[in-house]
Amino acid sequence: MKTPSLSHLRPSDYMNVYEPSEDTFLLLDALEAEADAGLLKDATVCLEVGSGSGCVSAFVGMLLKTCVLLATDINPHATSASLQTGIKNNVHIDPVLSHFASAFGSRLAGNVDLLIFNPPYVVTPSDEVGSNGIEAAWAGGVDGMEVTSKFLPLVNDLLSANGLFYLVTVRENKPLEIMREMRDTYGLFAKVVLTRRAGIEGLAIVRFSRTEI
Ligand SMILES: C[S@@+](CC[C@H](N)C(=O)[O-])C[C@H]1O[C@@H](n2cnc3c(N)ncnc32)[C@H](O)[C@@H]1O
Repeated sequence: MKTPSLSHLRPSDYMNVYEPSEDTFLLLDALEAEADAGLLKDATVCLEVGSGSGCVSAFVGMLLKTCVLLATDINPHATSASLQTGIKNNVHIDPVLSHFASAFGSRLAGNVDLLIFNPPYVVTPSDEVGSNGIEAAWAGGVDGMEVTSKFLPLVNDLLSANGLFYLVTVRENKPLEIMREMRDTYGLFAKVVLTRRAGIEGLAIVRFSRTEI
C-alpha cells in the first residue's frame, strides 16, 4: 500500500506538526501486515490518538475502506493538518482537538475496534511534558512514559469486544513492563508485532487485545 500523499504540507507546517518519521512508518508497516493477516477486516470504528499530520489515519482509511476514522490531537495545527491530509488522499477523517479521547466523553466506550497511539515517547525532563505545541509530539518525561501512562488506563474502556490497540514504544519505555501491567490490571493480551532499529531508537509496535491472538 502506498504511503499517503503529504505534498500539501510544507516545511513550515512541520515547525508545528510532527513530521512522519521512522516510528510512523514502522506503525504503517505493522498495520498493513495486520490487515493482510485479516486481523482488521471487521473494524468499523478507528480512533487514532495524537494523529499529527494525519498520515496514519489516512493510511488506515486507504487500507480499510468502510471504517469510520476518528482522530484526536492536543495540537490545533495537527488537527488541521490531519483534516487536510484526509482531503488530499480522498479519505474522510474526523479530527478533533482533544486530550486523548476526552472530547467524546463516554460515547466511545466499548466501541473502538481499532485504537492507535504513537505517543510522545522520548525521555525528557518532566517540565517539558504537557504543552500543546510541537514539543507534545515527543516530550515523554520520565522513561518517556509520562503521557502514555495516563492514556493506558483508558484503553480497556474504549476497546470493543474484538478491539485492537496498537502502541508505538521505544526501549526506554520498558515495553515488557507495559505489557505485563496491561495484562495484570485489565486482562489485555499483548504482543510485539514489529520491531526496528532507527538510529538510537529501538522501536516496537505492541498490539493489545482481549483474546490471545
Ligand atoms: C509522535 S507524534 C505522532 C504523530 C502521528 N500519529 C505519526 O505517527 O506521525 C505524537 C502526537 O501526539 C500528540 N499528543 C501528545 N499528547 C497528546 C494528548 N494528550 N492527547 C492527544 N494528542 C496528544 C502530539 O501533538 C503529536 O501530534
